[in-house]
Amino acid sequence: MTATPLPTIKFLQRPTSDAWVEQALAHLDTILLDHSHCERKAAGVAMNLMFRYPSSTKLVRTLTTIAQEELEHFEQVNQWLERRGIALAPLSAPPYAAGLKAEIRPQEPHRMLDSLLVSGLIEARSHERLGLLAQHCPEPELAQFYRGLMASEARHYGIYWILATTYFEREEVVQRLEELATVESNLLATLYPQPRIHS
Ligand SMILES: [Fe+2]
Ligand SMILES: [Fe+2]
Repeated sequence: MTATPLPTIKFLQRPTSDAWVEQALAHLDTILLDHSHCERKAAGVAMNLMFRYPSSTKLVRTLTTIAQEELEHFEQVNQWLERRGIALAPLSAPPYAAGLKAEIRPQEPHRMLDSLLVSGLIEARSHERLGLLAQHCPEPELAQFYRGLMASEARHYGIYWILATTYFEREEVVQRLEELATVESNLLATLYPQPRIHS
């Protein structure tokens, strides 16, 4: 676990099911490939926010760090793919990210708040699931890799939380997080038939 103090706020309403863990462990190569896509998308999301809010100094500075870290993770996962002879190939996306994106209200300032919280929720879920992979993966070296990444993802959801409370009243952030967290957990209630990080 990371030594960085985590926000005490509860991001995830429901824990990941045992069925997801079983599915992931049975398809580690597909999970690694999907993980590569997730890291690239996480870097893209951070950069999109920097483009959308170029004058929000704190947001730009902190998301610069996140985008760099996600690209580092992307490179590290891609090294694992190369070692295992897995080609970078497209994968169908589970309904998770699109379902969360649909919850982002189109008008500012709501759009900014929702975007930050959706990113925070995705980071929190990644943290939880990489932790489960670290705990249960039968390959010690790969488990160690997941353990290392898990700490970064915890820091990332903390950063999105801090940004949300920088630009919005805490009460509004807490209330909206609760609504979005319900949607997030519901999106995962039915296991996607294909193994994915966010299935
Ligand atoms: Fe990452
Ligand atoms: Fe992250």
